[in-house]
Amino acid sequence: GRVLSVASECVPLLKTGGLADVVGALPGALAAEGWEMRVLMPCYRPLRWRLEQMEEVFSEEDLFGGRGRVMAGEVAGRRMLLLDAPHLYDREGGPYAGPWGDWGDNAQRFAALSWIAARIAREGLSDGWRPEVLHAHDWQAGFAPAYLAYWGSGGVRSVLTVHNIAFQGWAPAALLPSLRLPASEFHPAALEYYGGLSSLKAGLVTADHITTVSPTYACELMRPEFGMGLQGVIAARAGQVSGILNGVDTDIWSPEAEERPYTARSLKAKAENRAVLSGAFKLDVPGPLAILVSRLTYQKGIDLIPEVLPDFIAAGGGLAVLGTGDAALEGAMRELEVRFPGRVGVRIGYDEGLSHLMFAGGDAVLVPSRFEPCGLTQMYGLRYGAIPVVALTGGLADTIINANPAALTAGCATGLTFHPTEPPAFAEALRRLIHLYADHALWEKVQKNAMRHPVGWQTSAAAYAALYRELVA
Ligand code: ADP
Ligand code: GLC
Repeated sequence: GRVLSVASECVPLLKTGGLADVVGALPGALAAEGWEMRVLMPCYRPLRWRLEQMEEVFSEEDLFGGRGRVMAGEVAGRRMLLLDAPHLYDREGGPYAGPWGDWGDNAQRFAALSWIAARIAREGLSDGWRPEVLHAHDWQAGFAPAYLAYWGSGGVRSVLTVHNIAFQGWAPAALLPSLRLPASEFHPAALEYYGGLSSLKAGLVTADHITTVSPTYACELMRPEFGMGLQGVIAARAGQVSGILNGVDTDIWSPEAEERPYTARSLKAKAENRAVLSGAFKLDVPGPLAILVSRLTYQKGIDLIPEVLPDFIAAGGGLAVLGTGDAALEGAMRELEVRFPGRVGVRIGYDEGLSHLMFAGGDAVLVPSRFEPCGLTQMYGLRYGAIPVVALTGGLADTIINANPAALTAGCATGLTFHPTEPPAFAEALRRLIHLYADHALWEKVQKNAMRHPVGWQTSAAAYAALYRELVA
């Protein structure tokens, strides 16, 4: 079968979060299931140099204020389609925002991506390739299923995957005609959303099927605490909603492939990695050395760290932080470093290589999210034997087996979970971490359980393939 995947980011071309990891991993994972997936994404400025080696396969004269063309080529084994539309994407800055905040024309920028996706689905590329399924990711591709529904699908089926409901692609209602959306559909059961438009809602009401990135998040999304205004829209389609857990790319995330390799059978070199990590962050920690690799935002519960850390440090623990995000949270992390020299180290920034060293050297990874559609870092933690300490929500709840008495007796615990995402529960989980770490035999058992827990794409790729098959049948 053939699938067109549509997204705003994709590893290794451009990444701001887990979305890019997942979009970049799916083509390989689905190839193993007999599905050829091509990925359509915008050609942002840093990607333009690649156009020279690519071939034009589609074009549109009037793409929301300028010409657009689709360029095809292979990047690290993935068949990429870059949407070259300089008036929309050739800018200094990030994919969603410039130096002064979000781009003012984001509605048009990503409607354009969605519009082209729908046209490719309907008409096929000039090389003759035409998908049977259009797979849209998040709000940036939300209008794609809508364009298929309102302008004709040519029999192509659509799937919308929600990676994070917090971002909804809101736009004023006045844009309706210029975004090529039918005025007749501007009502609460279709495009209207709190008086305006939401590309995510548009996708949710028009896609043939909705998925999200974990079974627990699929349930959470139908409740007001997590649905962020869209809970009713999703609940109304409950029969066409499924939660398919993300995997991790085990070629990239593998302790066997690190500079100082180790395995579940031989953990010796993990101590060497810990020493190198301690050196890099100038740490000297007697107890468990925890790591945090994360966007520093409200979603991730970063503001809880300063509240629980003093007791953890007093009990012998330490923390290495790598992240960027809200200025206030960056500042709070830096303050901790000053307050606990030798016990807390902080790097503000984005550094893929350093993150590998952190998982390889860390004893535990902290993920105290308020909500987490799936989460990838707890799975890296499993793979690297850095025991995940996670909030019991979304994909965190679906990937970690809490070291409670039952799981310890059964011998299957892989981490520590806590609920709710508030300081007392988090602090209690850290106390349990301290105790677990002190019991060497038990600690190593949990570590090995974690490392042996499957986190690859196999099961989930099969689930996507089964869904596509069902849709095209
Ligand atoms: P989200 O997409 O909500 O940010 P995920 O856990 O799904 O959360 O994915 C985050 C991805 O970004 C992971 O691959 C993580 O390792 C990576 N990441 C986040 N912050 C940094 C950073 N400062 N440096 C390197 N990698 C980071
Ligand atoms: C979003 C979510 C994260 C998920 C990622 C990939 O960024 O916040 O939980 O892992 O998408 O699906």
